Amino acid sequence: MTANASHAGVTGNLTAYGDPGFSRMVRHAFFASMGLDRDDFDRPVVGIIDTRSDYTPCHRDMPAVIESVKRGVLQEGALPLVCPTLSLGETIISPTAMLYRNLLAMETEELMRAYPMDAVVLVGGCDKTLPAQLMAAASANVPAVSVVVGPMRTGQWRGERLGACTDCRGLWMNYRAGELDEQQIVEAEYKLCPTGGTCMVMGTASTMACLGEALGIMLPGGATAPSGSGDRLRHAAAAGRCAAKLTRHPIYPRQILTVGAFRNAMTVLMALGGSTNAVIHLTAIARRAGIPITLDDFDQASRRTPRLVDCKPAGTGCLTDFHAAGGMPVLLKALEQLLDTTVRNVASTLLADQLATTPDPASWQKMIATLDNPLDNTESLVVLKGSLAPDGAIIKTSAANPSLRKHTGVAVVFESTEDVARRIDEPALKLTPDHVMVLRNAGPVGAGMPEAGSLPIPKYLAKQGVRDMVRVSDARMSGTAFGTVVLHCSPEAAVGGPLALVRDGDRIELDLDRRKIELLVDPNELKRRRQHFAAPPIPKRGWRRLFAEHVNQAHLGADLDILEYVEE
Ligand code: FES
Repeated sequence: MTANASHAGVTGNLTAYGDPGFSRMVRHAFFASMGLDRDDFDRPVVGIIDTRSDYTPCHRDMPAVIESVKRGVLQEGALPLVCPTLSLGETIISPTAMLYRNLLAMETEELMRAYPMDAVVLVGGCDKTLPAQLMAAASANVPAVSVVVGPMRTGQWRGERLGACTDCRGLWMNYRAGELDEQQIVEAEYKLCPTGGTCMVMGTASTMACLGEALGIMLPGGATAPSGSGDRLRHAAAAGRCAAKLTRHPIYPRQILTVGAFRNAMTVLMALGGSTNAVIHLTAIARRAGIPITLDDFDQASRRTPRLVDCKPAGTGCLTDFHAAGGMPVLLKALEQLLDTTVRNVASTLLADQLATTPDPASWQKMIATLDNPLDNTESLVVLKGSLAPDGAIIKTSAANPSLRKHTGVAVVFESTEDVARRIDEPALKLTPDHVMVLRNAGPVGAGMPEAGSLPIPKYLAKQGVRDMVRVSDARMSGTAFGTVVLHCSPEAAVGGPLALVRDGDRIELDLDRRKIELLVDPNELKRRRQHFAAPPIPKRGWRRLFAEHVNQAHLGADLDILEYVEE
């Protein structure tokens, strides 16, 4: 089938030789070398932008996803062209994948603008890949469908069901406490990630996949289908067909990424008990679409939405359980009265129409609760403000210790992640469970914002059974982690935020009910300390310099200021 001629096809975005006829001829010649012919040249092009790499093990099933997308594109008469990009393996890249999220977003946007693509399927999965792709889609505004590789299956070790990487952290904590030996930790390493696919707890990858579906830029059911499963491959083919249809009847990302869609995504984030990282990513995506959502919007979502999904680390289940219980479509049905049902998804389906044919959570399952009978009434994520974070900070209350909801303790300050690694286990620090551990210079400018906010419990305390302490930083935390951990303090220490002024021995107050994080030091003393503040040096060249010079603070999404939405 040949589509109508409204699309640009392979001669879209011509190379600038100053002679369009020559540009078309030479382009045909090179595509002909791939075996394409005039019939192919008449078809609309669907780019398939993918992020597979041996350096991203959770994407190892991606080739089969891409083949299925291609099959769907061909079924609808369009021409699929695959385009690999930078891949960001969360646990493989140094110092942190977050340092490169904006680079991937920039690369993806530019490829969408520069190559012939009448529509695009964005294939991601690991934590930073989907956010970067959605940031790019919002900026390039080329019709786009998001697909993820899907979550991995759970592992088993010594009778225990394991979820990466919540249980990676739990087992490591037990090892540090001396409860597991070397042999046992090596055994567990082989069982934590038993298949391809993204981390199968409600970490950042799973959360962002669910939010992609909530935003409507992913087809229903696409967030949770396991990697390598028939459901996953059928979904990928459907996404290919959808993208091919978009070449004839375009719907642009900024028509989908609306205020209502972001409001729905924030509600879903809270119902999931999802990752704190999603606050940064959603903010960045929204600002790319010209919708400046704020931490106050997240706070309101948090107040109106109870947790409904029982997934680790806040709960007990995993993504395969969530999928078996109906996944995102059923969760959206459970949340219906809190959602804007006038939004449309990438297939142009009105959310109200989708929900009209979706069943309520089934009585045989325990993964998806209802608003009448939620899992608990603790808010999932709370936005904190106060003298230590005037522009805001985040804590995942659903994964925090209830006994630490209100806590005042003495600060012990670590200057960097390297300083933590060097000194955390030194008995001379004489840390007690009541201390507040402070990490600074780990924000966007300071260090690219690594997931270092969940500082390890010192070995000598872990051996006494201590499993949680209040920790405060300008860093992020893995979505799979847990604990009473205050993150994203903004402004960060490296740009002179109050975190830079904390000294060992200061008192810090955390009060989740009042949503406060306060440095209990006299303002005049802080003024005096500020006079001695000197910003740490930034990298001298290359991407790291560009990043440090242009990255926004966490509460603004940590995008580069030069990449945000501009009225054209
Ligand atoms: Fe890729 Fe967890 S490391 S999703």
